[in-house]
Amino acid sequence: MKNELVDHITTIFHETFGSAPEHIVRAPGRVNLLGEHVDYNDGFVLPAAIDRATYIVFAPADKDFSTLVAVDMDQQASFSPQTISSKTQVNGSPLPEWAQYPAGVMWSLNEEHLSTPAMNAVFASNVPRGSGLSSSASVEMTFALAWQTLSDWKLPSMQRALLGQKAENQYVGVNCGIMDQFASACGVENKLLLLDCRSLEWKTIPLPEDVSIVVADTTVRRKLTSGEYNKRRFACEEAVRLLNEDLPTIRSLRDVSVEDFNRLAGKLPEEVSKRARHVVEEIERSKQAEALLEAGNIRRFGELMNQCHISLRDLYEVSCPELDVMVHVAQSLEGCYGARLTGAGFGGCTVNLVRRAEAEPFAKALANGYESETGLGPEIYVTRASNGAELLL
Ligand code: GLA
Repeated sequence: MKNELVDHITTIFHETFGSAPEHIVRAPGRVNLLGEHVDYNDGFVLPAAIDRATYIVFAPADKDFSTLVAVDMDQQASFSPQTISSKTQVNGSPLPEWAQYPAGVMWSLNEEHLSTPAMNAVFASNVPRGSGLSSSASVEMTFALAWQTLSDWKLPSMQRALLGQKAENQYVGVNCGIMDQFASACGVENKLLLLDCRSLEWKTIPLPEDVSIVVADTTVRRKLTSGEYNKRRFACEEAVRLLNEDLPTIRSLRDVSVEDFNRLAGKLPEEVSKRARHVVEEIERSKQAEALLEAGNIRRFGELMNQCHISLRDLYEVSCPELDVMVHVAQSLEGCYGARLTGAGFGGCTVNLVRRAEAEPFAKALANGYESETGLGPEIYVTRASNGAELLL
C-alpha cells in the first residue's frame, strides 16, 4: 500500500533519523450516521471508519526515549515512560499539545503494564483537525498499534480503543465517550458499525450498494468545545439523578423510555430536560437503525438523520449557523436521503446519505449553495467506509 502522504513522511523519516522506517501503520477518522451524544449515555451508535487517516512510519530506537515528528505541526517531541507523568519531554520542556495524545497512549498502556518500546516515528494525517471526524482518536489508535507492533503484547482492537479513550479522558483531559476510538480501531471496509455502548457488543451493517456517504466540512472550527461538551455530559448525569426519584432502577438515560420521559420531563429544570430529551429520543431512533437498513429502507433512515439534526440543533444546542446552512442546502438537493451534523458539533462536518448516482452532482451543488449563503469555501467529498487501524508494513 502506497500513497503520497506515506511517501512524504517516509522521506522525512530518512532525513531526520538517517535510515529507513521499518513499519507503517494507519488509523482512520470516522463519521457517525446516527446515535449522536449518546455514547456516554450507554446508547447505540452507528459510525463508520472513513478513508481519511493518520499515518505513521516508525522503527525501534536505540535509546531510552521515543522521538516523534509531527509533520502537520512541523514539530518534534521526545519523551519516555519516565517523563510523561509530568507531561514533559526528556529535555524538561513541557509536552506540546499535539504530543499529549501519543504520550497519553503511552501512559495508559504503561498503566496496564504494557511496554512502550522507544521508537523513532514520523506521522501526519489527512483527517482535518477539529472537524468532528475524530482526528485525535485516529492519532491515538495509530500510536497504540505502533507500540503493539514493537512489543510482545497483543490486544484486541476494542481493548486498544478503551485504552485510547482512557488516555483522552485521564491524560489529555477530554471527557469523551468510546465511539471515536472504537470506530478508528474496529472499522470494517464498506460497513457501518453498530455499537452498544453499554455492553460494548458490536456488529457490522452493510450500507446498500447504491448509497454514498458524503462528508461536508463547513471549515468552521470552534474552540472551547470540550467545556461545552462536558456541560452536556453533566446535564445528562443530572437528569439521571433527578429521574432516579421516580425511576429507582435507571443507571443512565439508556434506561429511560420515551413514555416515562414524557411523563416525568416536567420535573426537570428546562435545560436539563432539553438535553435529556435529545438523548432519550436519539437512543430510540438509533434502535430503529438496524431493522431499517436491513430492510433497505434508506428513505426512513434518512428521515431519522434529519430528525437527529433538528434535535441536536434545538434540544442539545450543539449546532451552529454554518452547520444548519449545510444541512438545509443538502436536504433540498436531488438524491439526498438525510443530512445532519456529525460528531460533537459546534462546527466541523455534516454527514449526508446520498443516492450513489447523484453523489458527484450533489457534492458540487452543495458546495455552491453553501458558498453563496455563507461566503465560505467548504470541502466536500464522497467517502468510503474503511478498515480500522492496521499495520501496512
Ligand atoms: C465526540 C466524542 C464522542 C461522542 C461524540 C458525540 O466525538 O469524542 O465520544 O460523544 O462527540 O456523539
